[in-house]
Parts: sequence; C-alpha cells; structure tokens
Amino acid sequence: MKRSPLADVAWNYMSAQILNDAAELEIADRLAHGAQSSIELAAATGTHAPSLRRLLRALTALGVLEQCDADRFALTDLGAQLRKDAPDTVRDVVRFLCSEGAWSSWGDSLHSLRTGETAFEHNYGMQAFEYLGQHPEEAAKLNGAMGRMTGETAAGIIAGYDFSQFSTIVDVGGGNGTFLAEILRSAKDSKGIVFDMPTGVTDAAATLGAAGVADRADVVDGSFFASVPSGADAYVLKLVLHDWDDDRCLRILENVRQAIAPEGRLLVFERAVPEVVTAEHRRALLADLLMLVLTGGKERTVTEYRALFESAGFTLDTATGPLGDLGFTRLEATPA
Ligand SMILES: C[S@@+](CC[C@H](N)C(=O)[O-])C[C@H]1O[C@@H](n2cnc3c(N)ncnc32)[C@H](O)[C@@H]1O
Repeated sequence: MKRSPLADVAWNYMSAQILNDAAELEIADRLAHGAQSSIELAAATGTHAPSLRRLLRALTALGVLEQCDADRFALTDLGAQLRKDAPDTVRDVVRFLCSEGAWSSWGDSLHSLRTGETAFEHNYGMQAFEYLGQHPEEAAKLNGAMGRMTGETAAGIIAGYDFSQFSTIVDVGGGNGTFLAEILRSAKDSKGIVFDMPTGVTDAAATLGAAGVADRADVVDGSFFASVPSGADAYVLKLVLHDWDDDRCLRILENVRQAIAPEGRLLVFERAVPEVVTAEHRRALLADLLMLVLTGGKERTVTEYRALFESAGFTLDTATGPLGDLGFTRLEATPA
C-alpha cells in the first residue's frame, strides 16, 4: 500500500505545535550566538532536559535546527526566521496561528459546522476581537503576524496603483501600520492615518517611523463600529471585512460612507474567492474556515462584496486581481 498524502496532512498539526513550542521557548533566540546542549537550553527555559532534547530533535527533522553531536544543536538559516529580531521573522505568525484561542477553536470546529457559530465565542463567551482588546499579549501576536504577512505581500498588492492621487488615505483596521507605510512610500506627497482599536495600533508609530513616513502619518485609535476619521479622500480596508459577518461589515462600511469625502474612494483589499474554487485558492479557503471558527467572518466573492457595498451606499467600480502572490483583489468603490 502506498503512503497517503492525507495521512501526512493529519500528522502536520504536530509540526505546527512543535514550531509554536520553539517560538514560545525562544529557542531560536537562544541559539542565535552558537550551538547549545539540551541541558543548557533546559536550564535557560525552565524545561525538562530529556523532554526538551526530544523537541530539539524534532526541530532538527523540520529543518529548524541542526544536530552537531549527541547533544548539541545549532540554528539553521531557516530556523533563524523564528528569531524575534529577524527582519523576516515568522515567530508571531506561528504564535498567533497556534495561540490558545485559535488552537482551541479549530479543536471545536465541528461546533461551528453544526451551528454556524464561531467556536471561539462558544469557548470564550465573547467575540475574538473583544477578547483581544482585553488581552494585549494575545493581540500582540495577531499584530506581529499581520505585520509579517502584510510586509511580505504589500509591495505586490499595491504595485502599479497610483496612491499619489489621494491627499489623505485612512487605513481602517490598519493594525501596526505596515500597509500604510508601504502606501505612503509609494505616494510621496500623500498623508495617511492608521486607524485601529487601541491594542491594534500599539506598534504603528514605530512602524511608520522606521519606514520614514511618520511626518506624513497619524495614528488614531477607536472602534470602526462607532466611527472612523472623517474627511479623507481614500479609505483602505485590507483584510478587515473578511473578519466579520454581513451585518457587522455593513456597520463598518456605513461608518466609512459617513466619513468619506464626496469624491472619495473606498479601496478594499481581500482575497476574493470565485464561485468554483480549486487548489490554487487553498490559502483563502483555509482563511475562510479560520474566520468561521474564530471571528465569524468569511471570504467572499466579488458579487457578495458588490452587494455589501450597495447596501452601504457605495458603487463597486472595479475589481482588479489577482494581485501579489497570495491572490488579492482590489475592489474600488465610490459613494453612490
Ligand atoms: C486581520 S487584521 C488586518 C490588519 C491590517 N489591515 C493588515 O492587513 O495587515 C484586522 C484588524 O482589524 C482590527 N480591528 C478589529 N476590530 C476593530 C474595531 N472594532 N475597530 C477598529 N479596528 C478593529 C484589528 O485590531 C486588526 O488590526
């Protein structure tokens, strides 16, 4: 009998947890300056040395570490991406996707499939972003993960689009400012505002400063369910609407509609899915289920976005994509 790739898929959840253990124990950071033994690492991490050695060997199998001799382990180039200070760090991506909230929600995904409710709310008794608002250390994982994923894809997503036509661009739910920073670097005379909940914007000023655009950017905190900064001529929503069900999307869009200048433009960046999907939509379809179990949102078709926009008083003018290697769509709309 041949080995089944489906069995490999089932085994893979262990790899994710192994990476998360390494990230939480800061193994990569501790090995940044040279190989160490499991005994040294166990002393530094407060773990049981023989058990930790088993984790280190599994990390070797995943290509994160290299075993130098019976009990010395060194970091590989790939493993260096788990370092906190690596420019291409994936530490927060791992920590967010394997966080207690995400992990337990996936563990309870049958609840979502049976009821349509988020497993997160079933387990925690509140919506995921409300929980993040009360748990800054968990919000920091999401912010770091989004910053990393947006940093990877932003240049490809905005390439060829002229943001310099706008005088003020508000990135609604703009998180740590990575996307707005990339936009403002491409539009040298435009100003921008990152708007997000207080736990979302904690690192935004630093990101904008590091990108050299802080003099043209403000950071404003608040809830987009209450209002968004008014009077700008461009409002960006990237990976925000997919977090929410239709009713909540409408509330966000209606608040943008109230705030936007009469000639303004709404720019929504999402991984719009077609009616008939294939394996090439894998990432969007995994994210779709992540939204089902975690936040109550979903990945939508262009037709679904058009209907949402119309209900909120916008006309969808163009849908352009796929953009970047994760297949984003730019949906441009104007006040109806
Ligand atoms: C999936 S992240 C997208 C972040 C960013 N736009 C990006 O693409 O990297 C969703 C963002 O919505 C923010 N958010 C959630 N609820 C919010 C609220 N009520 N008001 C403002 N921002 C909120 C979160 O803090 C988070 O930064």
